[in-house]
Amino acid sequence: MNENDEDLTTFCDSAAALVEGCRLPVRMQGGNDWPLAEIISIKEIRGQRGYYVHYVDFNKRLDEWVAESWLDTRKVQFPRRDGAPAPAGTTTPKKTHIGSGVPGTPMAEPRALVSRPASPTLLAEPPLVNGQAVLAAALHKKMNRKRKANSIDNESEAGEEGDTIASGAATPTTRPRQSGSLVAHGHDDLVTRMKNIEMIELGKHRIRPWYFAPYPQEMVNLPCIYICDFCLKYRKSRKCLERHLIKCKLKHPPGNEIYRKGSISFFEIDGRKNKCYAQNLCLLAKLFLDHKTLYYDTDPFLFYVMTEFDSRGFHIVGYFSKEKESTEDYNVACILTLPPYQRKGYGKLLIEFSYELSKFEGKTGSPEKPLSDLGLLSYRSYWAQTILDILMHSKPVGDNEKPIITINEICELTSIKKEDVISTLQNLNLINYYKGQYIISVNQELMQQHEKSMEKRTLKIDPKCLHWTPKDWSKRAKCV
Ligand code: ACO
Ligand code: ZN
Repeated sequence: MNENDEDLTTFCDSAAALVEGCRLPVRMQGGNDWPLAEIISIKEIRGQRGYYVHYVDFNKRLDEWVAESWLDTRKVQFPRRDGAPAPAGTTTPKKTHIGSGVPGTPMAEPRALVSRPASPTLLAEPPLVNGQAVLAAALHKKMNRKRKANSIDNESEAGEEGDTIASGAATPTTRPRQSGSLVAHGHDDLVTRMKNIEMIELGKHRIRPWYFAPYPQEMVNLPCIYICDFCLKYRKSRKCLERHLIKCKLKHPPGNEIYRKGSISFFEIDGRKNKCYAQNLCLLAKLFLDHKTLYYDTDPFLFYVMTEFDSRGFHIVGYFSKEKESTEDYNVACILTLPPYQRKGYGKLLIEFSYELSKFEGKTGSPEKPLSDLGLLSYRSYWAQTILDILMHSKPVGDNEKPIITINEICELTSIKKEDVISTLQNLNLINYYKGQYIISVNQELMQQHEKSMEKRTLKIDPKCLHWTPKDWSKRAKCV
């Protein structure tokens, strides 16, 4: 093998020779596939080496700790000797000594049961998850500095904003606290590249996180962290959470309930008035959002938390955040359905709600970019269904005439931003250029498919149940 080869593919007779940055086939859990994976970290656990691997062509949520027996050492690509990044697509972390520089310990039992969707393979474009270059490291540093200066009073019960209100959708009084919101990032460092929380217990759900989230260091070495599903405060043990639950008076998220239909409600939470809640929500969300970095200022955001009601209270199902004022017409910053509720239509319900708010505001809107792989799938599906529905119900202008609708009218009716309407029509192959103008033509087969998919979509927003008046935040800012 030529030493100058970009990838030194070698037979490696002992896994002991493996170092961080090596790429080799690794058996993926739950199957017999051996995709190429990169070793991100190596740790000694009770005399045995554990390997934290990233499957090169898959989403980072599938990264995991594996034992030696899952590695195919017959075909190893060693990292380049000059330390330059090895094969395109992922970054190669700097070598570290075994067990150094990595937060938390490896997951005690590699390959315990997980519930994480694989990267959807339906996408026409490559997933956008790991791509954009932003200053995560700088933000992380800034965040740590702020954390030191203004540490999160997560443990203390006295004066907690959540504890000050009884039931009812009142806006609680708050004192200033540290806050957190999520911004897009691209640069990964070794710390934020690895999952650091093994398990969370949230209400009745046990959920295995997908990605890193900057919970305090004392939380990351635990087999599970326990989260109150009303105020989202986190505790080290079930006992501690039980103590918290005796004092925690919340039975729903703070803020105002602005929508209720059946067991589904939406609460609007102001990131300035409920900083502690907003920050804990962002921390929780970060466990399932890869392309966002936690950023400590929730003031400019509103959070719309969707809940499901039962005899114990209003339990969080998902949420989206929204800038109070967006110069780029974003109507969603981050959106999440918690994993136990995913693939049941709640994601589209959140998206539909975000557009319903935009309709009330008389604006078009779009989600903040980049979208995750699952975000893109969900939005594309929502846009397609919504636009096809408009086309299906648009009436012919006269006898034997075809319906006429302009793209601007579609935007007005749906609040979907023009560029998203156009890209959806293009994806569906519905736009044709004919005699100097664009014509939207719909075929019967597509409409039948659409009707069937709408029959399956049982969860829908009922605008009559939305009790909300948009605020003009620019005026408010000037008044202060
Ligand atoms: N594989 C394939 N398709 C999927 C998957 C999956 N794992 N998950 C959802 N979909 C598809 C569904 O099939 C559905 O399309 P269809 O109706 O045409 O079949 C569509 O996506 C929406 O499904 P829902 O059940 O309504 O959405 P869900 O409740 O699962 O929520 C969401 C979607 C919010 C993106 C969720 O996957 C999630 O929270 N992911 C983690 C966080 C994330 O990536 N958020 C988006 C980031 S982008 C941003 O924040 C602006
Ligand atoms: Zn609580």
